[in-house]
Amino acid sequence: MPLLSGSNPADVQTGAQRLAAGELVAFATETVYGLGANALDDAAVAAIYAAKGRPAGHPLIVHVASLEAALHFSPALGASARKLLSACWPGPLTVIGPRAVGVGVTAAGGQDSIGLRMPAHPVALALLRQAAALGVKGVAAPSANRFGRVSPTTAAHVQQEFGSSLTVLDGGACTVGIESTILDCTCDPPVLLRPGQLGSAALEQLLGHSLGQRGLHTPRAPGSLKSHYAPRTPVRLMQAADLAAALAGLAGLEQSGQVVERVAVYSRHAFTAQEAVLAWRQMPESAADAARELFSVLRDLDDLAVDTIWVEQPPASADWDGVRDRLQRAATA
Ligand code: TXA
Ligand code: MG
Repeated sequence: MPLLSGSNPADVQTGAQRLAAGELVAFATETVYGLGANALDDAAVAAIYAAKGRPAGHPLIVHVASLEAALHFSPALGASARKLLSACWPGPLTVIGPRAVGVGVTAAGGQDSIGLRMPAHPVALALLRQAAALGVKGVAAPSANRFGRVSPTTAAHVQQEFGSSLTVLDGGACTVGIESTILDCTCDPPVLLRPGQLGSAALEQLLGHSLGQRGLHTPRAPGSLKSHYAPRTPVRLMQAADLAAALAGLAGLEQSGQVVERVAVYSRHAFTAQEAVLAWRQMPESAADAARELFSVLRDLDDLAVDTIWVEQPPASADWDGVRDRLQRAATA
C-alpha cells in the first residue's frame, strides 16, 4: 500500500522498513512533507535527486531522531548550534554544521557541511525512531515536491507531485506550513539562510547575541534561489494600494468590453468582486495562520488556470518574514 497512515503503528513500521531497504518514503513533518531516504545509502539518496529533478550539488537536510544521531553526521557541531537545538528540537529549525569526513557525502551534495533537523511532528518522530532501530541513522529529506515547485503540506499534494506509487506516510495537514528556519552554524555567529516560523529575534534571544551577516563564505542553498516555491501561474506581489488600483483598472477594461486578464486574488483586504476575478481568498490576520495555508492556497489558485495570481504584500513585521520570503520567491518565477 503506497499510502500509509501515520496513526497506525504497523504502517509507521512499514515506512521504516522501506527506508531501511533503500526505498523512498515521503512523510509528514510539522513544516512540509519530506521525500525521505536513508542518508547513508548513496543509491537511495541519488533516487531523491532523480525523483525531484534536483541538481546533484544541492544539499539535502538530514532528519534525525536524537542528538547522538545528529553528532554522527556533525561531531564538531559548535556551541551555538548545540544551544539552539537543545532549545528548539524537536522543531522547525535546521542547523548546518561541519560534516564528518566521509559521512553523508551524497546527502550533503558534496559540501563539507551538513544540514540537520529533528522534526516535531509525532509521525515524523515515530518514523525516524523506528528507522533508527533498523540502523538508519538519519533520513535525508528535501520537501516532497518537484524542483522549484510549491512544497506539499498534505499527503494528497505529494501524490499530485509524484503519482500514487510513491510510499507516503500520511500525518494530516502540516501545522507550520512553510519550511524550517535554516541557520548556518559553520560560522560564528551563525547566519540565517532561510527564515521560517522561528524568526531571527527568537534565535538571537536564545543565543544571547546577534546573528551574523550573510557573507561570501555562505554556502549556496537552492532554497535561497529567487525563483523557488513557484506555482505554474505567474504571481504578482503588490502593495494593497497598487492591488486596489490594478483591480480598478481591470474593472474599467471590463466595462468597456475589452479582453481582460483573468486573475485570482489572495489578499488581506477585501476588494469588491469583479467578473475577471475568478477567485478571491482572504489572507489570515496572523502570520502563523497565513503560513499554515500558504502553499495549499497557492496550489488551489494555480489549479484555476487563471492568467495571473495577484497577492497583497504581507505586513513588513518580523513575524511575517517566512511568508514574505516564500511569496517573494514565488513572484519572481
Ligand atoms: O522544513 C523543512 O526544512 C523541510 C522538511 C521536509 O523538513 N525540508 C526542506 O528541504 O525544506 P529542502 O531540500 O526543500 O530545503 C533544504 C534547504 C535547501 O535550500 C538546501 O540548500 C539547504 O537546505 N541546505 C541543506 N544542507 C545544506 C548545507 N550543508 N549547506 C547549505 N545549505 C544547505
Ligand atoms: Mg524545497
